[in-house]
Amino acid sequence: MYTPPYPERPLNPASPFKLLRMARKNLIAIWPDATFELESFSYKVLKRRVHVVTTPDAVRQVFVDGGTTYERKSSQQRHALAPLIGDGLFISDGETWRARRRVVAPVTHISRLAELTPAITAGASDLRAEWQAKAGQEIDVLVDMAELTAGIICASIFGRQLARRATQRLVKAFGVYQALIGQVDILSFLGLPDLLPRFQGFRIRFAARKIHRVLEGLIDDILGKKGGAEASLMRSMTEAANAGDAPTMDRQAFRNEAAVLFMAGHETTANTLAWAWFLLSQDPETERRLHAEVDAVLGEAPAVHADYEKLPFTRAVIEETLRLYPPVPLQGRVASGDGMIGGTAVKAGDLVLLNAWLMHRHRKLWADPDVFSPDRFLPGGSGIPSRYAYVPFSIGPRVCTGAAFGLLEAVLCLATLARKVRLTLRPGWVVEPSCRLSLRPGEVLPMLIEAR
Ligand code: HEM
Repeated sequence: MYTPPYPERPLNPASPFKLLRMARKNLIAIWPDATFELESFSYKVLKRRVHVVTTPDAVRQVFVDGGTTYERKSSQQRHALAPLIGDGLFISDGETWRARRRVVAPVTHISRLAELTPAITAGASDLRAEWQAKAGQEIDVLVDMAELTAGIICASIFGRQLARRATQRLVKAFGVYQALIGQVDILSFLGLPDLLPRFQGFRIRFAARKIHRVLEGLIDDILGKKGGAEASLMRSMTEAANAGDAPTMDRQAFRNEAAVLFMAGHETTANTLAWAWFLLSQDPETERRLHAEVDAVLGEAPAVHADYEKLPFTRAVIEETLRLYPPVPLQGRVASGDGMIGGTAVKAGDLVLLNAWLMHRHRKLWADPDVFSPDRFLPGGSGIPSRYAYVPFSIGPRVCTGAAFGLLEAVLCLATLARKVRLTLRPGWVVEPSCRLSLRPGEVLPMLIEAR
């Protein structure tokens, strides 16, 4: 049984000042040991009450049955992302959110995945050739996975032909934007007031403008029917809008949703894959079983859509990776009205946090919660204790629209690459899970490529 690393758990809650210092360093390191078996709990920061949701019943009550009361994101999150995604789905609420959700959700619907898979297969295949040529060399897995998934999401949004010239520029410009918005989420998750440094405003708007220019160029090409007849998310969205199946959207609305898809759809999958490589490198028996599966299912060719059903163990590895290291470990909402969580009253303006980090490792929900055991997710395994206890993609009306796509992408990429290469961790390198914007295995993940 392999227990992968997790931050030391404090025995007592920290003072507010210390909590802030700890949270700035690592948002998943602040939760006292006792919270891993507590029912949902609340605390107060300055004058604001924060409710941390860690039990399946409370998750259902708030995120599924709570309706519009809990659909609003925090003002910090909205301010940090608005220059980039404007009224985009990820931070909007009310009528705008509902209208956009009707357009964006269907484009990655499960029925569309077969036509979107060629972008995944091509991206994984290109990287596999690159890695095979680099056998014996060290890479930073975080960088390689981010480039892989950025290429795939860009090709999926705009089609491979148009994406080819834009991906690198988008990756670079997004990196600048993310560095500028920095730790804003951390403050919001603690319930602190909106402290986004306004002096950064000009630089943030400038960085956003750069991204907008690239996206607008691509959208004009799509609307002008350049890029052939390739299937793409943007083409599906514009066709739906033109056919009157969806609310009217102008060029700026399409641009905002393209930015949402790029932002939400690449770093999450990249982190999942990076964690999976690390876990496999530390657990030889799981790695052996994964190799046995991909060798039996795949020949020389990269994985295609029809292979997905034949890779249950690879999928279980990804699902267990998402349990132990959910890329979005905390999801925040601001209550727009009064309500109840269990026996606790929620007032309008309170912050509600869905804490996947605590829930996925909750001692009253899971057997051996900190152990890496993909078998849980196989038929006949212990399974998940409740559908409200496993929430890497969130749950309820705001559930991730790309969940099926992201899972498919992670499984096919891992299978394609693992068929021909294995990665070993740099000797002596210590991985420390850390969460600033998302949950990552540190700032770099140096691993050596071995051909197989
Ligand atoms: C392993 C990969 C992924 C994970 C773990 C993940 C996780 C999440 C989570 C937790 C949320 C909710 C965030 C919140 O409410 O605070 C979310 C929202 C969202 N995700 Fe994903 N995601 C993944 C991949 C993707 C992909 C590939 C796409 C697009 C193709 C995507 C598109 C979206 C969108 C559009 C939303 C906003 C939904 C709304 O607010 O209505 N995600 N994702």
